[in-house]
Amino acid sequence: MSRRLLVTGGAGFIGSNFVQHWCQNYPEDRVVVLDALTYAGNRSNLATLEGKENFRFVEGDICDRAIVDELLASEKIDTIAHFAAESHVDRSILGPSAFVQTNVVGTLNLLEAFRQHWVNNSYPDSYRFLHVSTDEVYGSLAPEDPAFSETTPYAPNSPYSASKAGSDHLVRAYFHTYSLPTMITNCSNNYGPYQFPEKLIPLMCINTLMGKQLPVYGDGKNVRDWLYVGDHCTALDVVIHRGTPGETYNIGGNNEVENINLVQMLCQLMDELATDLPVRPSNQLITFVKDRLGHDRRYAINATKMKTQLDWSPSVTIEQGLRLTVAWYLSHQDWWQPLLSEEYQAYYNQVYTQTAS
Ligand code: NAD
Ligand code: TYD
Repeated sequence: MSRRLLVTGGAGFIGSNFVQHWCQNYPEDRVVVLDALTYAGNRSNLATLEGKENFRFVEGDICDRAIVDELLASEKIDTIAHFAAESHVDRSILGPSAFVQTNVVGTLNLLEAFRQHWVNNSYPDSYRFLHVSTDEVYGSLAPEDPAFSETTPYAPNSPYSASKAGSDHLVRAYFHTYSLPTMITNCSNNYGPYQFPEKLIPLMCINTLMGKQLPVYGDGKNVRDWLYVGDHCTALDVVIHRGTPGETYNIGGNNEVENINLVQMLCQLMDELATDLPVRPSNQLITFVKDRLGHDRRYAINATKMKTQLDWSPSVTIEQGLRLTVAWYLSHQDWWQPLLSEEYQAYYNQVYTQTAS
């Protein structure tokens, strides 16, 4: 069957990759993007789709019930893919309120609107609400702990992860209370094209090109699991098509790496692929800086359920994915240069004013 999707946050990093994936693979489906275009949203991420008949972009806030109601009804939406969020831990430490507003209140607003729409249309079996969440809701692991599974208790440690945990609980409650066909995915750190410059991997690529310090928090031994964004999109695709309402799916890349090792890998790739670096070898730019407050030590994902129940596994290795990503940032300076705005510089100065540790 063909679907009619409302993609919230579709102008952000993962959302725009997902929209491109969906429009390429399912041209018979309708895709409507609802995005407030915050600092992290960028309409040019969807430039190749503008003007296509099956695609529509709407600028608006997920907290605005009137806009959401109108879109669900007029576009006859049967599927919500919910990406819209405040997504950066460091920003959540500077100002948590926006995180609660968008991630918790905004998600509740979408759930209520979708429930009403589902009731109005006599509870169609085909309706789906996919809530895109994070592994950070599970908290921090010690080195020998087993990876997070779908039954790991929630223990969020940052305002960001706490707000995502709150939204996950609401989504779960709407399935149990109202039987609304919701599904939750909890995914590890994504990387790839169109990621906003302040996140670790683009920040390191861009700072290397500019000959700026590469700021590594604390001792650099925090561990993240990294998933290429294209693999996340195929995972969400199978969850929408074959996932079971009421279920949670953990999505990961089987790529646990210490931050310092990841930055060293990026430096090697930059040295190899960039022609005109101001400082070479670029790892001379690595600088250990004061740690992030409450910095989670390790995340790891057990994605066995995605493999055994939905036959999904990641296809891109970390070496392949980082090479693709570095090459993309090198060939898309016109995309990221305009994002290094005054607002970005102000944010940057606020986070990185501390002297090297
Ligand atoms: P992002 O910050 O790049 O994009 C978020 C998008 O949401 C932006 O386009 C922004 O304009 C939009 N938005 C923010 N507030 C809004 C509002 N009130 N109304 C409408 N639109 C709004 O984020 P991302 O990295 O693409 O993450 C997308 C989702 O995936 C988030 O829910 C995040 O929690 C989750 N996630 C991200 C990662 C990761 O590594 N980036 C990993 C796992 C899960
Ligand atoms: P980030 O991309 O912010 O993702 P998250 O905190 O959601 O995992 O950061 C990834 C890791 O890199 C995290 O352990 C914090 C660390 N980090 C640095 O060491 N330096 C930096 O400048 C940034 C942005 C992150």
